[in-house]
Parts: sequence; C-alpha cells; structure tokens
Amino acid sequence: MSYQLELFGEECIEKPIINVSSIPQRSPFRYPGGKTWLIPTVRQWLKQDNKTVNELIEPFVGGGIVSLTAAFEDMADHITMVEKDEEIAAVWEVILNGKNKWLADKINSFDLTTDNVITELNKPDKQIHDIAFCTILRNRIYHGGILAKGSGMIKNGENGRGIASRWYPKTLHDRITSIAYVKEKLHFITGDAFEIMEQNINNESAYFFIDPPYTVAGKRLYTYSEIEHERLFALTAKLKGRFMLTYDNTAEIRQLADRYNLPYRTIPMKTTHHLEKTEIIISDNFTWWRSNLNN
Ligand SMILES: C[S@@+](CC[C@H](N)C(=O)[O-])C[C@H]1O[C@@H](n2cnc3c(N)ncnc32)[C@H](O)[C@@H]1O
Repeated sequence: MSYQLELFGEECIEKPIINVSSIPQRSPFRYPGGKTWLIPTVRQWLKQDNKTVNELIEPFVGGGIVSLTAAFEDMADHITMVEKDEEIAAVWEVILNGKNKWLADKINSFDLTTDNVITELNKPDKQIHDIAFCTILRNRIYHGGILAKGSGMIKNGENGRGIASRWYPKTLHDRITSIAYVKEKLHFITGDAFEIMEQNINNESAYFFIDPPYTVAGKRLYTYSEIEHERLFALTAKLKGRFMLTYDNTAEIRQLADRYNLPYRTIPMKTTHHLEKTEIIISDNFTWWRSNLNN
C-alpha cells in the first residue's frame, strides 16, 4: 500500500491511498474520521447479495461518503442518512431539501478574506442556509476540518496559503450541484442514530453502515462525541438486516464484540506521525470479505 502525506493546517495526517481514482470524492465536507479510504471494502460489502440493495441506512452519517457513493454508483435504491449535529445536518438539509443552488453559488462567489469570514460567522439571526454555509466555511478553514469546540482557523496551511489551503470553491460548487442528480434516493433525518436503528431493528432488507464516534479518537473531533458504546453493540447484535460497524481497534471494543458474539476483522490504516493503526470491522457475516482489498 502506498501513502500520501496530507497537511491539514499544521497537522500531519497520513492516509492510505488505495486506487484513489476509483474513489471519487463526492462529499462537500473534509470529514475528520471520514471513511473514503474504506470505500473499496464498503463496495464489496454492499454487493454481497449480487443485487442492488433496497435500503441503506447510515445512522452516523457525518460527511456522508458512504451514502453518496452508494447513490452515485447505483448500489442502493433508498438511502437514509441520519446525523445529530445540527450544523452538519443543516448542510444536508439544504443540499437535499432546500436552497441547494443558493449554497453552491454562495460558495463559488465568496471572497475568502479573514474579515469576510468573521462577518459571515458573526451574522445574527442565521437561517438554515446561512448555517449550512458557515458550516462548510468552518469545515474548510479550521484545523483538520474539525468543528468541535476548541478548534480554530488554519494559520499557515499548505504553501503558506492559510485559510485558503482547503477552500476549493468551484469543486465544492460542483459537488453540491452534482448531489442534486441523485437526491431522489437520499433521505436525510436530523436525529439520533439509536432511534433510527431501533425503528428498523426488524427490517430484514436493510443494510446498516454504522460509523460512530470512536472511543479514543472521537473526543476532540465532533461536537457530539459521547455515545453509549455498549448500547450500540447490544442494538447492532439485534438487527435483522445486514450491518457493518466500524471501530478503533482497542481491547475494550474487541471485548464488546466478543460479549455480543459479533464477528470482526481488522483492517490496516495509517495515521498521524507514521503510526501503523488498524481499525475493526464488525459484520453479521464475512462471506463478502476479501482481506487483500486494503493492502
Ligand atoms: C465517525 S463520524 C462519521 C463519519 C462518516 N462515516 C464519514 O465518512 O464522513 C461520526 C458522526 O456521528 C455523529 N453523531 C454522534 N452521535 C450521534 C447520534 N447519537 N446520532 C446521530 N449521529 C451522531 C457525529 O456528529 C459524527 O458526525
């Protein structure tokens, strides 16, 4: 596997590059903990029954790369995306059910200066499309795309480009506009992952892609980073549909998987400062698994 060094502001995050050309980047977000690198495995999982999935449910949707890829590549007919964070949710609401074109044009025409950013962020009485714009703006100009409290603007960035390091207005405009072509398949809910999973516990035809905030790394990355991990395992174990649950590879997570009789595999992932890291993939079955996919 080869790796590329990505500079997120002053942070160095190393990510695997796996057939990058085969993983189109379709999300308007640069998402901390995003699963673009896992897409080859997700494709394998979604195609395990050799037919288009009727319903894909993504309860912790974040930047939504899995849902978007499934929609664009015709791997699922109906896709339900759920996110609790109101700022992230505003972006999905506006793209899928609101002023999609306004958002795309606003990004494209915005003059990115620190003064203009401050004016936008401090604007009073924001409506949902203003919140969506500010979320995209912060996601692009804050360290590592992190929106959680304590994060702040990139200072130096790549080649001294500062806040403009990750601001690609035309690309963002085109991604947002393109999503409109598949939006009939995408259904977004601002809400709680546990609720949607409980409502669909007996849904045999659903596929659940479950990517919660992790136990260790999740804390500084998201506004909503605390979840009851054991409850998530208990609920996942009861699902009648197919599922893929991802986690950091820790003793605590392996114990939970064992406690709920859930089979798992590990998958390599390189991260900050050359650390070789593995993640855990838990699934109802592994007949679809090809271990060399991400190597
Ligand atoms: C690991 S991230 C998902 C990343 C996503 N798979 C991607 O590739 O962009 C987890 C997400 O779950 C959201 N979240 C946390 N608690 C939640 C809850 N109870 N219900 C729904 N979403 C929640 C967080 O805001 C965060 O966006």
